[in-house]
Amino acid sequence: MDTAPDIVRGPDLIDPFGRAITYLRVSVTDRCDFRCVYCMSEHMTFLPKQDLLTLEELDRLCSAFVARGVRKLRITGGEPLVRKNILWLFRALSRHLEAGTLDELTLTTNGSQLAKYAAELKACGVERINLSMDTLDPVKFKAITRWGDLGNVLQGLDAAQAAGLKVKINAVALKGVNEHEIDDLIQFAHGRGADLTLIETMPLGEIDGDRTDQYLPLSIVRARLLERWTLEDIPYRTGGPARYVRVKETGGRLGFITPMTHNFCESCNRVRLTCTGTLYMCLGQDDAADLRAPLRASADDALLNEAIEAAIARKPKGHDFIIDRTTSKPAVSRHMSVTGG
Ligand code: 5AD
Ligand code: SF4
Repeated sequence: MDTAPDIVRGPDLIDPFGRAITYLRVSVTDRCDFRCVYCMSEHMTFLPKQDLLTLEELDRLCSAFVARGVRKLRITGGEPLVRKNILWLFRALSRHLEAGTLDELTLTTNGSQLAKYAAELKACGVERINLSMDTLDPVKFKAITRWGDLGNVLQGLDAAQAAGLKVKINAVALKGVNEHEIDDLIQFAHGRGADLTLIETMPLGEIDGDRTDQYLPLSIVRARLLERWTLEDIPYRTGGPARYVRVKETGGRLGFITPMTHNFCESCNRVRLTCTGTLYMCLGQDDAADLRAPLRASADDALLNEAIEAAIARKPKGHDFIIDRTTSKPAVSRHMSVTGG
């Protein structure tokens, strides 16, 4: 007589909408040495240090996700490179690259510490990095980041490229601030062999200003770019939400991340872990799962795995960001620096 086959549970994390979760973004600190106007208020209250997961705990959590099929890890913040001894975590996680169980270990950085760390990051198996840089004008740079120094970041960029890291420059499109500088950013990035990605501001966390003053739809930017450049759609994907074109005149790639004007949730493959072990299943929703308690409750990963599965089982279908005159409140109350960019 036939017996039903045992149900073999694969390692994959599949959400209720059939999306495989293969990408984990990990914010290792909510702190930053900049105070970008669209990201933070000038006077931020950060988490008390004792609430943070240790680097060992972050390693264990990431490794649990890798064991369940996550193929790409992005270390973010806040500014990840301001976390003390952060290179230890990169070194630890690089074992999964060596084992072939992880395809990519990468980071998003503001570049302030990159001159110091670029070569070591490369030695840990990091191949590509995202560098946030919204302007090439040192005065505007200071105005946007409040505390940042463009010269430092450019040194970081030089060091990264000298170390052999591929760089993608991320620029948030800001109305009245860098909107007429996009051509220069394209020329600069592509002239240095870097990709450039433009991002729409998202309503995350309370900031000092009014977001409706900052918001610049990329549909407008794109239409303006077409007056000067030939943009050819290309199928290039990096596992993220950006849609890319090739700029015919430069030969370089230009990406658009349009959470506001185009919803990309249907192909979402990611979840986000905060530095306190909270897992957010969606950048634009408040629902979260605490992984710190199951992590600390026992030395083996059974409880942790259960909590991860339960969390993925309630990943929402998508976000519903809106920025208009009637809705200037943030869609979610936490800042980008909590869940990671
Ligand atoms: N909307 C859009 N992008 C943001 N970033 C930070 N806060 C926001 C926001 N509210 C960007 C940073 C960086 C990346 C990590 O996210 O500029 O490029
Ligand atoms: Fe720091 Fe990035 Fe936020 Fe700017 S956008 S304050 S660099 S975390």
